[in-house]
Amino acid sequence: MTNKEALLWASSSLSEACERPQYESELLLAYHLKQDRIYLTTHDHVEIEAPEVFKTLIQRRAKHEPYEYIVGSASFYDIHLEVEAGVLIPRPETEILIDVTAELIRKEQLTHIAEIGVGSGAISVVLARKFPELHIIATDICETPLRVAAKNIATFGLEHQITLRKSNLIDEVSEEVELVVSNPPYVAEDFLLASNVADYEPKEALFGGRVGDELLKQIILDVKQRGIRFLACEMGYDQKEPLQDFVNQIGVKYINFFKDLAGLDRGFVIEF
Ligand SMILES: C[S@@+](CC[C@H](N)C(=O)[O-])C[C@H]1O[C@@H](n2cnc3c(N)ncnc32)[C@H](O)[C@@H]1O
Repeated sequence: MTNKEALLWASSSLSEACERPQYESELLLAYHLKQDRIYLTTHDHVEIEAPEVFKTLIQRRAKHEPYEYIVGSASFYDIHLEVEAGVLIPRPETEILIDVTAELIRKEQLTHIAEIGVGSGAISVVLARKFPELHIIATDICETPLRVAAKNIATFGLEHQITLRKSNLIDEVSEEVELVVSNPPYVAEDFLLASNVADYEPKEALFGGRVGDELLKQIILDVKQRGIRFLACEMGYDQKEPLQDFVNQIGVKYINFFKDLAGLDRGFVIEF
């Protein structure tokens, strides 16, 4: 089987599973051959090496396993992060949370912050790279994200800036911090997710409770009770109203909501 034949077979095998079967087939073949995509066009009549191994990659993708888990890497912001099953694949929406948080860090000259739910390390790694003087305590309740985040932090040499801690929310963070940032689980328990998400990504990273905003509300309360000045969070597109009502009840200095690139409500910043 030549590279060209392998691509034809792969594209037709992926036609149901993904929106861009040709493109993803090329990416997976390039990954399999440890080459870039250009190589495939210049070597289309070359016999493919280890075709059975390539077929296994395509079969995994055909069953809706996310591309990022198959290759063990996700592109996020200006970097690539290692990912594996048990860790949320970082999403483009979260880049907006980072920009909003970075603006606040810059404006208020913040130096000590915490992240709740570190996952792959996406938020903390990007913020630490932007602000070399910033210290971050990043928590997660699950072991796998803490292990994977540690690898990503080491890859970028950020061990002196980011401290990982196993914790429910910020229960184990006793240090003074000026801001908490979080992309917590915020999906409602009965929400029907696409199979590439529902069957492969960790439930602990997705579901925020029966309604979905329970963990977000708990974070707001915890941060307020701890006397921390700022909180920046991602949230679901339909959670603005209930969260606005909630902060009206508990009292905050301000809450500013922000939207994602699709124009959907996607997060907020609170000053307490
Ligand atoms: C939506 S993922 C976000 C991961 C990463 N920060 C990102 O943006 O890609 C939420 C993370 O929160 C963690 N988590 C869930 N409940 C938690 C809790 N009560 N305390 C701390 N972390 C929690 C999950 O394990 C998961 O890694």
